[in-house]
Formats: sequence, C-alpha cells, structure tokens
Amino acid sequence: MKFSTFSAGKASELREMKPRAVVFDAYGTLFDVHSVVLRGGNNIVGDIRALSALWRQKQLEYTWLRSLMDRYEDFWSVTQAALRSAARQLQIPADDAQVDRLMQAYLTPSAFPAVRPALESLNRVPMAILSNGSPMMLESAVRHNGLESFFTEIISVDRVRIYKPSPRVYTLGAEMLRLPATEILFVSSNSWDCSGAVAFGYKVCWCKRSEAEMELLDSAPDIIVTELDQIADCF
Ligand code: LAC
Repeated sequence: MKFSTFSAGKASELREMKPRAVVFDAYGTLFDVHSVVLRGGNNIVGDIRALSALWRQKQLEYTWLRSLMDRYEDFWSVTQAALRSAARQLQIPADDAQVDRLMQAYLTPSAFPAVRPALESLNRVPMAILSNGSPMMLESAVRHNGLESFFTEIISVDRVRIYKPSPRVYTLGAEMLRLPATEILFVSSNSWDCSGAVAFGYKVCWCKRSEAEMELLDSAPDIIVTELDQIADCF
C-alpha cells in the first residue's frame, strides 16, 4: 500500500485497529463528476472543461452557503442552479434543453475505473455511501454503475437537510451503521470532506488522485492513498 510519508505512522496504527466498516463519499470519490459534461455537453459551444470545473466549484459553494443560510434545497436543485450560474459566468450559452441534458447526464456519472476492484476487494467489510446527493441521484448513479450489491446503506444528507461538512451529516454514517465513528474508515477524494470527517471523529482516508494539497483546517487524514484499490490493505 502506498502511504504518504507524513501519515505512515498513523497508517500502521490504523491497520492494527482494523476498521469495522467503510463509508465512502460519492461525487468526486466514487463517481467522476467531470464525466458528466463529456456525456451530456456535446452540443455546448464553449470551453466545456472550464464549465465542468466551475460547475463543480459553484455546486459545492452553494451547498456551503445554503447550509450557513439555513436555506436547504436538495442537491438536484443546487446542482442545476450551479450549472446555470457557471454557464452565465463563463458566458457559455445554455438554454433549458441543454441544461436539462446535462442534468440528466448527472444521473449517470461514470465510476472511476478503480472503484469496482476496490469494492470487490473489500467485500467482507460493511460499506455505505454518505453523500450530499439526493436519494434519487445517488440511487441512479449507483444503479447506472451496477454497484448496488456492495452497499448496506446509501445515506443522503436529505435526512438532515444540511450539507457536509456539518457534523449533523457525518453522524448519520455512524448512526446507520451502528458503530462508533472511531471504528469506521471514511473515504473521500474531497480534502475539505476529509477535514469534516476528521473533525467529527472518523478514521479518515484521503484518496488523493491529483496534485491537490490537504486543507489547513487542523484535520490531517489518517492515511492517504492515490487510488481506492489500495484501501483493502487496511483490513
Ligand atoms: C458528496 C460531495 C462531497 O458526494 O461530492 O457528498
């Protein structure tokens, strides 16, 4: 297993502790959000990669802003508003039909190639998803990628009507798996999500696929891997 140097000590502690379950983030971790514009954006005129990046950034910002404002709308609505806002900011024309097409594509994001082998290698361990996604979006993404049989729970923030990184979200994973957070490995590629999970009390694995750096939020992950198929070594 390839651990980062700064987390190597903690990684051996983690292996000794043997987490009893794994909770995965969904978008950006299991599902490639940038696969959406490739599938649904072929009639968009403009920089489709820039649109995808700003769409994602605005989607996350809107979840944080709505949480702070105490004005929850589900992830489907937030994602649609973020798309319209990103297109407007980039001056990329997107009429209702084009927005609808991209939103429909958001229901069928591609799983990263390592996801299935990773889940297969963890098959004896209870696994769940804990995500900002609405129940409809998560069920669709999981079904589209044929991953239904791996998860005992697919948990949406919709239950508590606030977004990550609220502790009210992270507590859902521990509650639904009936385990203390300290005995659960929370896995995310989103460094800010890892920060939230560390703050809540999970054991945390950051799947660092890019050159991104960890957020400076007093919340180092327990381990860092470069792909999800390295996680089975913790068990
Ligand atoms: C999720 C966001 C973080 O799936 O992408 O919860």
